[in-house]
Amino acid sequence: MSGRRSSEDGALVALARRFPADFGWGAATSAYQIEGAQRADGRVASIWDTFERIPGAIANGDTGEEACDHYRRWPADLDLMRELGLRAYRFSIAWPRVMGDASPNAGGLDFYDRLVDGLLERGIRPFVTLFHWDLPQHLQDEGGWAAPDAPARFAEYAAAVGGRLGDRVTDWATINEPDIHSFFGHALGIHAPGARDWGLALRVSDALLRAHAAAAEALQARCRREPAVGIVLHLSPIAAASASSADAEAAARADGYQNRWFLDPLFGRPYPADMVAFYAERFGERAAPADTPRLERPDVLYVNYYRRRVVAASSSSPLGFELVRRPKMRFTAMDWEIYPQGLGETLRRVHTDYRPGALVVSENGAAFDDRVEPDGSIADMQRVAFLFDHLAHAADVIADGIPLRGYFVWSLLDNLEWNLGYAMRMGIVHVDHLTQRRTPKASAYWYARLIAAATARG
Ligand code: FCB
Repeated sequence: MSGRRSSEDGALVALARRFPADFGWGAATSAYQIEGAQRADGRVASIWDTFERIPGAIANGDTGEEACDHYRRWPADLDLMRELGLRAYRFSIAWPRVMGDASPNAGGLDFYDRLVDGLLERGIRPFVTLFHWDLPQHLQDEGGWAAPDAPARFAEYAAAVGGRLGDRVTDWATINEPDIHSFFGHALGIHAPGARDWGLALRVSDALLRAHAAAAEALQARCRREPAVGIVLHLSPIAAASASSADAEAAARADGYQNRWFLDPLFGRPYPADMVAFYAERFGERAAPADTPRLERPDVLYVNYYRRRVVAASSSSPLGFELVRRPKMRFTAMDWEIYPQGLGETLRRVHTDYRPGALVVSENGAAFDDRVEPDGSIADMQRVAFLFDHLAHAADVIADGIPLRGYFVWSLLDNLEWNLGYAMRMGIVHVDHLTQRRTPKASAYWYARLIAAATARG
């Protein structure tokens, strides 16, 4: 037993040594998924509060009403982060908490003010995301992201937060995964606000990029300490299911849809011409945006990486491709292929094609069917292996001189996994959703040892 532990630790120390001593080791969460307290201190409703009430919208009828009760339990959660030795914490601010119907809401801003102070007191660097999908419902009622003034409203919100926290927070991300919010929320209807209209989804994707630019400007203007402003993209390598030209075309389209549609404009290029032509042909001339917003390059590109996508041509799906499951691969509880080298492939591709000045892995992790042992412990060795294998590829990328500055595990806590509810557990800390009791899993202790080993060298 002790022999096994010491060889495991040998591998852990060897991995840890491959990261610079100042690497940003963190964990990530988002407001709707953990906070609960939907009516506290002047918070107004979000589109997810509305969506979760639609029967069948969220698995098992789960809701974010209580979530992980983080809004009340945050001091203990921060203590836990300190015990694990986290150097950084990525969280999102709930727009409906911070902006009332018309003006900033002091009660909501106070909460994040205390949270930031609490992090800094514990030596944990705050990474703030402004929009992790919880649009205020009253803005949705006025047209949501498709309303002409939506980017300006987002900038007002960014200014309020930047004005309040920008004397302490320097690391900002405007928007989390614009692809998922646009397409899952507005074309596929499986996320809030639950629309099913591809033209609308494309307009929303364009509005989100414009909103990103407007918020970045507001943060630059309002933060007392110079902010580094980025955006969080959800990126995947795409493989064709076969050598056929139809599957190769499908793969190029899937790449255009998920990756290039956002990367190209963020790095000064027009929307990809193949996708503009495809969307116009599929969804009508007016579906594709008329022009590309002119965007400054982000100071940092935040990358969420979970899986590779293997795709085949399909005449029955709206985008002409479908996902193919390679039976020989391993999958998470969410049926996501486990493909650790994809993290390296994704970061290298972004570096080669777009040259961002800095990269951060803002989410990476997996859902597994964790079992709580009679003694209360959770030996989530599959998650340990998942994290180990992905971090090994992150280390390779750093060895090649690619400017990867940090890594955030998704997630700190088991939480509300959107439409999939609480059944999908992605935390390194187990949460008993009846008692709210937190129990670090083996992966949390493993991650803590890794961080300690990586940062011990001065
Ligand atoms: C990402 C989201 C995050 C979480 C993970 C599993 O798409 O940003 O909130 O749900 O997936």
